[in-house]
Amino acid sequence: MRLEGKVALITGAASGMGASMARIFAREGAKVVVADVLEEEGRGVVADITRANGAAIFCRLDVSSEAEWKVTVDAALAEYRKLDILVNDAGLSGSAVDDLFDTAAWDRLMAVNARGVFLGMKFAIPVMKAAGGGSIVNISSISGITGQQGIHVGYNASKGAVRTLTKAAAVQHGADNIRVNSVHPGLMPPMRSSGRTADPEVRAQMLRQVPLGRAGRVEEVANAVLFLASDEASYITGAELWVDGGSLAR
Ligand SMILES: NC(=O)c1ccc[n+]([C@@H]2O[C@H](COP(=O)([O-])OP(=O)(O)OC[C@H]3O[C@@H](n4cnc5c(N)ncnc54)[C@H](O)[C@@H]3O)[C@@H](O)[C@H]2O)c1
Repeated sequence: MRLEGKVALITGAASGMGASMARIFAREGAKVVVADVLEEEGRGVVADITRANGAAIFCRLDVSSEAEWKVTVDAALAEYRKLDILVNDAGLSGSAVDDLFDTAAWDRLMAVNARGVFLGMKFAIPVMKAAGGGSIVNISSISGITGQQGIHVGYNASKGAVRTLTKAAAVQHGADNIRVNSVHPGLMPPMRSSGRTADPEVRAQMLRQVPLGRAGRVEEVANAVLFLASDEASYITGAELWVDGGSLAR
């Protein structure tokens, strides 16, 4: 198994790509902390994992809250004694508001998508450093690399922040044997918080921009994250992996 003996904390793990990562990581031998604001769905993912003889616990975490991050990392350590892997996956979509310069939306997007990743690393890195190393994977987006029509500018800004936060932490903590990488999904199933990009007509238009000619599946991102989280990627840090069907290669 590719994550035998590892402990992994995954935010946004109640749904979508994060839930897929939680299931795949558990299947590969990791003990998983499923962290999300959605309790019922998160506990459902934990139940699926334990039914399949895996190990997982649920922690309710709003990633924008510093106090809740502390409680969550403490709970992970209390249950599993260490933390080898952090995946910062929780996020909000930028396609739910009409005014692409709406200030409240900017604040929400930055609080969850950027500050959430910053806080996750703030609390995980000291624990990993004390234990001799770790692996962090931050979920950005193709929107962290290029601009798009119809997406709140704060989504691109927050995902761009994730990309450079990742590189800064990789440079600063290489000497601690902590690897930090970002994954950039392209067109995937809509997020719970998606607005326009969940509309079939808008999606059909977006699909025309994807060289592989289809949307990605959640497990296609989860498998990329699995690789970067695992020791197979032991010499990879500060890298960005596009999982986008070729969208950014155009
Ligand atoms: N779906 C896409 O097309 C797409 C494309 C590129 C990148 N992404 C990114 O991938 C990640 C996962 O998205 P997804 O498609 O699985 O969407 P999703 O909506 O299914 O999952 C996101 C999860 O994050 C959780 N979340 C939201 N705010 C939170 C908060 N404050 N604290 C804790 N958890 C919170 C949600 O409850 C949800 O479970 C996000 O960061 C998203 O921006 C998605």
